[in-house]
Amino acid sequence: MRRPFVAGNWKMNNTLTEARALMRELREQLSPQAAVDVAVCTPHTLLYPMGREIDGTAIALGAQNCHFEPSGAFTGEVSPRMIKEAGCTYVIVGHSERRQHFAEGGEILKRKVEAALQAGLDVIYCIGETLEQRQQGETEAVLDRQMAEVLHGGLDAGRLTVAYEPVWAIGTGVTATAEQAQASHEFVRSKLASIFGASGAAKMRIQYGGSVKPGNAAELMACPDVDGALVGGASLVAGDFVAIIAAAAAASR
Ligand code: 13P
Repeated sequence: MRRPFVAGNWKMNNTLTEARALMRELREQLSPQAAVDVAVCTPHTLLYPMGREIDGTAIALGAQNCHFEPSGAFTGEVSPRMIKEAGCTYVIVGHSERRQHFAEGGEILKRKVEAALQAGLDVIYCIGETLEQRQQGETEAVLDRQMAEVLHGGLDAGRLTVAYEPVWAIGTGVTATAEQAQASHEFVRSKLASIFGASGAAKMRIQYGGSVKPGNAAELMACPDVDGALVGGASLVAGDFVAIIAAAAAASR
C-alpha cells in the first residue's frame, strides 16, 4: 500500500505576510495524524521562513524549481543544496509552466533531477500532455518521452514521485475524469516498471495534478494508481487544501 502524498504548489503566490497567515490556518486545521504525506512548495523567498513555520508539524517543505549546478556564475538561479539547507525535503522539477514559459526540456530536466537527488532532495517530476496532444491521440507517446528523456534506472526510485498533470487541466477548472486520470497513471506506472522494475514501480507514488478541488478529490484519489495530488490554486486556501488531504486519507483506508 502506498502512502498518499499531497503537495501544494503555491506557484508565484503569497508574500511573506500572506504566507504566514496561510500557514497559521493550515497548522490549525490539519490533523497531525492524517495517513498522508503533506508538503507545501513555496517560492524561493519563502522557503526559509516557512521552514520555521512548519517546524514541529507534519508538513514538509518543497521548492518549485532548482538549478543543476551546486554553485557558480548563474545569476538569478538557486542550487539544490541551497534549497536543501533552507529546509526543503522536496523540489518540483519539470512543471509544465517551466517547460512552457522557460523552455525547459529533457536534457536540462534530467540534469536537474540528478542534481536534486544528489543534494539529498526528493523530487516531484511533472509530466503531462497539452490539449492538442491529447486530441491528436499522443498522450501516451508524450508521457513516454517525458519519462524516457529524464528518468533512468540509476536514479533512486524511492526518492522520486511522478506528478501527472495534463496541461489542459491546470488552472482551467477542467479536471481529468477519474477514468482519464487512472488510464494515464496506469500507463505511467507501466513505464516506471520498465525503468525501475515492477517492485520499484509498485512503491512509487504518482500524483495527479490539474484543478484538484475538494469537490473532485475523493473521486480522483479513489483511482487505484492515483497516490495523491499536486494542488495549485486550491492549496492557497487552507480549508480547501485540508479537505483534499482528508480525501486522500479517506481513499487510502
Ligand atoms: P491547479 O490546481 O491550479 O490547476 O494547478 C495544478 C498545478 O499546476 C500544480 O502543480
